[in-house]
Amino acid sequence: MTPILLSTLVLLVFSLCVNSAQLKGGPGAQWDYDQYNVGDWNRTYGITEPQQIHISISSQAEYAKVQFATQGEVHTAILNYWPKSSPHKSIVIEGGENWAFVDNGTAHHTIYLHNLQTLKLKPATVFQYKVGTKDSHGKVTWSKGEFEFHTARRGNTVNFVATADLGLVNAVAMPALQRLAKSHKYDFLTLSGDQAYDMADFNGTKGDEYMRFAENLFANIPFMGAVGNHENAYNFSHWKNRFNNVPFQKSGFSNPMQYSYDYKSLHIVAWSSEGAFEGSTNEILTSLNWLENDLKEANRNRKVRPWIIVLGHRPMYCTSFSSPTDGTCITETQTIREGLVDPATNTRQHGVEALLKKYKVDIYLCGHRHNFERTYPVYNGQVTSKSYHNAPSTFQYLVGNSGNYELTIPFNTTGPFPAWSASRYSGYGFSTVKATQHSLELTHYGVDNNGTHERVIDHVVVTKD
Ligand SMILES: [Fe+2]
Repeated sequence: MTPILLSTLVLLVFSLCVNSAQLKGGPGAQWDYDQYNVGDWNRTYGITEPQQIHISISSQAEYAKVQFATQGEVHTAILNYWPKSSPHKSIVIEGGENWAFVDNGTAHHTIYLHNLQTLKLKPATVFQYKVGTKDSHGKVTWSKGEFEFHTARRGNTVNFVATADLGLVNAVAMPALQRLAKSHKYDFLTLSGDQAYDMADFNGTKGDEYMRFAENLFANIPFMGAVGNHENAYNFSHWKNRFNNVPFQKSGFSNPMQYSYDYKSLHIVAWSSEGAFEGSTNEILTSLNWLENDLKEANRNRKVRPWIIVLGHRPMYCTSFSSPTDGTCITETQTIREGLVDPATNTRQHGVEALLKKYKVDIYLCGHRHNFERTYPVYNGQVTSKSYHNAPSTFQYLVGNSGNYELTIPFNTTGPFPAWSASRYSGYGFSTVKATQHSLELTHYGVDNNGTHERVIDHVVVTKD
């Protein structure tokens, strides 16, 4: 082999290695887009054409806030919505909050984000909406699609979809989630952290791609998610910008990392489990103090809203291991439960488990492990009850199996399992929750590797006197 041919080959191999390392999990490289998730979401958009549309709501769905992105700056952002049954009652909101979001990568990739809030919404109504941008001559560019959401129905029942750890590729549960969103059977969607893998990758363009992909879900059902470790780049700037239409201002928190809302019999809190891993002591205390005050207030309203659910990303308990050296279910879970070790006293402080028990939180709804696992009511590693009636402590419901390029994490098939581990499933899936004044019914569905053939994997009913 000639020296020139040899050096060319070495260069080729080097370049292939670098590319595959850079593109790991990236679009079109190690993984192709899912055949079952093909749509026109990755098409070319006009400079001021709305894209990445998603909606969130405040308590009782009294208000909705829509966010969308444009590649270029716009003169005026527009939200147009109307009751599906009365299109002539169309309302136009113009202006809103508009800002440039600059990714902190070397390219300083910039997109323009726009938040528009509805007026107070009529309950029990299906609304349709579209968003647009108006130029200085009054010419409007509308979103290609129109979307739907609904406000709180009459009666006591509320239904929501629960998921976590949703990627851009190998997003197995996505077709099912989209079907559920469009069915109007579910009032909102919770997502317990980790999306896109990661939004900040490729100078933040992965975030654009993912948000375009997710539009077909997040524009058709209110997104009520929590932040995860895969959103941690640049002090969580992608989360704080792209999801700042969640109702954090109405919840008295200073940014979108935490918020809460009421919906009929439910009080739901989105809490950042990342403080102990990314934050200063001050940030951890700010996070937990706000959580405690929120839970205190929620307990004052317990007769009206008997159920309290805390949404976080990392689990307090899990049993699955991705490798022999993986300590996530040992060390991380202890940090979430009990907090970090204070070197001065050699004791752990600022954990969340004691707070959840003190304020009688019913469920800690999380993800992070890419599988499904439900615990019995548990505290400090001990089962407090094998019954879900009048449970003396919180139980954990881990639903991190919606699908992403990291695949799922299996369980040891032979056991033994800790006494608190009530149910486990290592396939892909999602959950639904039905709440009334008297019961919470949680169902976990498994799906095939293309998001079809939903089947019940796990079902539990929680009640209290
Ligand atoms: Fe995670």
